[in-house]
Amino acid sequence: MSKEMKINAAKEAINFVKDGMKLGLGTGSTVDEFLILLSKEIKNGLSICGVPTSKKTRDLSNKLSIPLTTLESVKTLDLTIDGADEIDNDLSLIKGGGGALLREKIIAFNSDELLIIADESKLVDKLGDFKLPIEISPYEHEVTSLRIMNKLNKIGYEGTIGLRKDNKNIFITDGGNYIYDLSVGLISEPNIIEQTLNLIPGVFENGLFIDLTKKVIIGGQEGTRIISK
Ligand code: 5RP
Repeated sequence: MSKEMKINAAKEAINFVKDGMKLGLGTGSTVDEFLILLSKEIKNGLSICGVPTSKKTRDLSNKLSIPLTTLESVKTLDLTIDGADEIDNDLSLIKGGGGALLREKIIAFNSDELLIIADESKLVDKLGDFKLPIEISPYEHEVTSLRIMNKLNKIGYEGTIGLRKDNKNIFITDGGNYIYDLSVGLISEPNIIEQTLNLIPGVFENGLFIDLTKKVIIGGQEGTRIISK
């Protein structure tokens, strides 16, 4: 979607950032726009420190002179700003299109608030059109992917699963893991899918973010709107 929509959402998110905050910094093109605006605020005197969810966000933050720290140093975060691939009516999300889902979920879980910024195209009635990313240990990963399909078949989901590639190479996450992208049609019970996946040895995390956010900023051509629950 258009860069303007992402910038609009990012601008609105800046209003939620207060002096002295410890911020989680998500990953993706919408977050990149937020980082650019955040760095301008920092140049104007805003004092914050950020914990990045990916090497990409860390590198851009360093380039923009955004002060960074680690979760270990600060223990909890006041606010995390991140993007999403799909957002449903309950504000459940699919994330991980950029492959950062494990670190994004760790940061979201350890944050008082997760604020999602996205353009209108990310809003859906039901999750599942976007393939669900699952981060998996490289060790015997093909068998893990078969187990995933077995378990899902048993609870009534049929579909396909595929190892994510970066051109011809296997896509490797910042943590050195693989991503499998799962397509099982529209997901009527995200909770059950999440629990089923995370009980399978070899699965580190999946891209379903349920009950982790209460506020989403949607950027449109004309401006923004906030959806809260
Ligand atoms: C990365 C993510 C991103 O937040 C998601 O893919 C959205 O990215 P973008 O803002 O580029 O549309 O989950 O793992």
